[in-house]
Amino acid sequence: MNLLVLGNGKTGSLVAEIARQRNHSVRVLDRDKNLNAQALTTDLLRTTDALIDFTTPEAALQNIRAALTLGARIVVGTTGWYAHLDELKSLAASNNGALLYGTNFSIGVMRLFRLTADLAQLSGYNFHITETHHTTKLDAPSGTAITLRQILHASHPDANIEITSHRIGDAKGEHTVTATSPSLSDTLELRHTAHSREGFALGAVQAAEWIQGKSGTWEFRDIFDQL
Ligand SMILES: NC(=O)c1ccc[n+]([C@@H]2O[C@H](COP(=O)([O-])OP(=O)(O)OC[C@H]3O[C@@H](n4cnc5c(N)ncnc54)[C@H](O)[C@@H]3O)[C@@H](O)[C@H]2O)c1
Repeated sequence: MNLLVLGNGKTGSLVAEIARQRNHSVRVLDRDKNLNAQALTTDLLRTTDALIDFTTPEAALQNIRAALTLGARIVVGTTGWYAHLDELKSLAASNNGALLYGTNFSIGVMRLFRLTADLAQLSGYNFHITETHHTTKLDAPSGTAITLRQILHASHPDANIEITSHRIGDAKGEHTVTATSPSLSDTLELRHTAHSREGFALGAVQAAEWIQGKSGTWEFRDIFDQL
């Protein structure tokens, strides 16, 4: 495939490396060449099978708008732009474009989501989420922590579920969900720790392979089983 990776930072650079290992032809654009999505022209996107975005919340919003307006297919790992999701879904639908987004492209975290839905079946417990990331992460709480809270809220709509965020060094990402009985007699804990960014990068490249020839909007957790 001809892939266009937006963002040459910690994750985007690894996405490009893994995509090349999987024999894709890869172009990478960073902020200097794509301010305000200026590089995403009809000509460039005509020769692009899919875009993969690991930039910033503001840049991702501009990139998604530009790509979908031209009917392109885009995989978005960047978090922090979801308030605009409805608008972007409509844009994908009206232009025959494709948007595949996820707060986390790691298969291990997809398992954590499933296990959390199972943990949420407990009644009478208090839930808490803790997340730890590197100090340069722009959004807090993490998108993954917000997804975990949504999963718990699906079974406990009225529960007050707090998220504690820590920003430490170069931490790659840790998420912990705890369920504690009100009497404090016991606690159940689910934890995922990312030891490198490779899991996210591989999942994003596989998502770009999956999206080929498709139009519509999907969240990664709904399709990862098909990869
Ligand atoms: N969904 C996931 O699995 C997952 C995993 C890791 C990171 N993330 C998210 O991905 C995003 C990027 O994370 P990171 O750690 O790689 O950040 P980073 O700061 O290392 O890299 C971001 C890069 O985007 C570039 N950029 C900014 N504006 C741009 C534009 N208009 N066009 C092209 N490039 C532009 C910056 O110059 C920088 O190089 C964050 O939102 C982070 O939360 C998601």
